[in-house]
Amino acid sequence: MSAAGTVRELRIRPFDRADTEPVVALWRAAGLVVPWNDPYLDIERKLGVQPELFLVGEAHGAVIATAMVGYDGHRGWVNYLAVDGSRRGERLGARLMAEAERLLAERGCPKLNLQVRSTNAGVIEFYRRIGYQVDEVASLGKRLIADAPPIG
Ligand SMILES: CC(C)(COP(=O)(O)OP(=O)(O)OC[C@H]1O[C@@H](n2cnc3c(N)ncnc32)[C@H](O)[C@@H]1OP(=O)(O)O)[C@@H](O)C(=O)NCCC(=O)NCCS
Repeated sequence: MSAAGTVRELRIRPFDRADTEPVVALWRAAGLVVPWNDPYLDIERKLGVQPELFLVGEAHGAVIATAMVGYDGHRGWVNYLAVDGSRRGERLGARLMAEAERLLAERGCPKLNLQVRSTNAGVIEFYRRIGYQVDEVASLGKRLIADAPPIG
């Protein structure tokens, strides 16, 4: 099947609770689950805030992609962008991001930001290909709720 054909079979829809296990498995396989974030808690939190922007990509009834999108009133954010390892390079990631952009623009969001872990810098080229540029900013964070006991 052509790349264009495989893209067409993707259906993008909001997350449903029944997607929980396949989504967490997809995130684990994609290397997005880290010790300091509990993916189940992350899902629960998102279901309480703009759940309609938590996207899954489905093909033939299977979850093969995700994007957790949010708008804070100033910037849009995307987290947990993932495509099943066997389906990469078919422009599914680009499709998910295009849908995230569409939904954010529809809400009046002027700019989308996202963070890439320094250990995952290889993915920056993917974002460049779909129109993103590296902003000259330092990303700072402060943990407010610990999901897991501190190590050591
Ligand atoms: C990043 C990811 C979502 C990309 O999904 P994908 O469906 O394979 O990407 P696409 O097929 O839509 O690629 C779009 C473009 O980016 C390019 N691209 C994709 N991944 C790339 C990579 N790792 N390095 C360089 N270019 C890449 C593609 O070649 C394509 O280029 P083109 O426009 O010239 O054809 C996927 O690799 C993934 O799930 N990675 C693991 C999880 C992850 O790191 N998520 C991001 C967290 S910040």
